[in-house]
Amino acid sequence: MIQLDNVNLYYEQSSPILSNVSLYIPQGSFCWLTGSSGVGKSTLLRMFHLEIKPNQGHIQLLDTDILKSRRSTLCNLKQRISIIYQDFKLIPNLTIYDNIALPLRLQNMDETIINRWTNRILQWMNLQNKTRLHPKTLSGGEQQRIAIARAIINRPDILLADEPTNALDEEQVLRLMDLFYDLNDLGCTIIIATHNDNLIRQFPAPKLKLEKGQIKVDDAIQT
Ligand SMILES: Nc1ncnc2c1ncn2[C@@H]1O[C@H](COP(=O)(O)OP(=O)(O)OP(=O)(O)O)[C@@H](O)[C@H]1O
Ligand SMILES: [Mg+2]
Repeated sequence: MIQLDNVNLYYEQSSPILSNVSLYIPQGSFCWLTGSSGVGKSTLLRMFHLEIKPNQGHIQLLDTDILKSRRSTLCNLKQRISIIYQDFKLIPNLTIYDNIALPLRLQNMDETIINRWTNRILQWMNLQNKTRLHPKTLSGGEQQRIAIARAIINRPDILLADEPTNALDEEQVLRLMDLFYDLNDLGCTIIIATHNDNLIRQFPAPKLKLEKGQIKVDDAIQT
């Protein structure tokens, strides 16, 4: 779950991203995050990923009040929340394999399990021949699939996906949406930021629309 109470969020010298916003997203939700370019979608996802604190107000993520919690609690919480960044943010000096395995290594998981899970996901992403390469040698779509693999490998409770289909072809988009639905069926809350109205029409779900510092929740399914 994600709960905002009277949250203000802004960067210095720019218009507010959130102005006194309250919002409740129950655990297990699947929703789109829309709004025009520059309105603050990526910033909002980064706040849900505990990278940015609100300027005012309270946030609860997975029943944890983030402003009242200790650092160790927040570290544990962060391991349950994954993000697929709009610009991928792969680590350039790590191989593809090590990029994907990183979240599991941060949890001190056994290397045998890490190996099994990482290889399985590499195969699913059709990247099993690229394990020893570094990110900069891959295409945009390949890099995006690695960013997706890294975000889902530790089976998060909240998945924040920032324009996750931009570099993918049509078949990969269908497979990815299937994967998101499977994760959602397991109870993961999924929020996908996108500009792509066709994608939203193809996969109807409630919409959070960010506009003028407010979030409008639109349950209507557009056909
Ligand atoms: N680190 C930062 N410092 C100051 N301003 C920032 C910072 N990051 C983003 N901004 C500004 O905040 C606003 C929201 O940016 P953000 O990237 O969240 O928008 P967005 O809705 O994701 O846009 P897009 O659809 O183009 O990806 C923009 O005006 C941007 O210039
Ligand atoms: Mg963005």
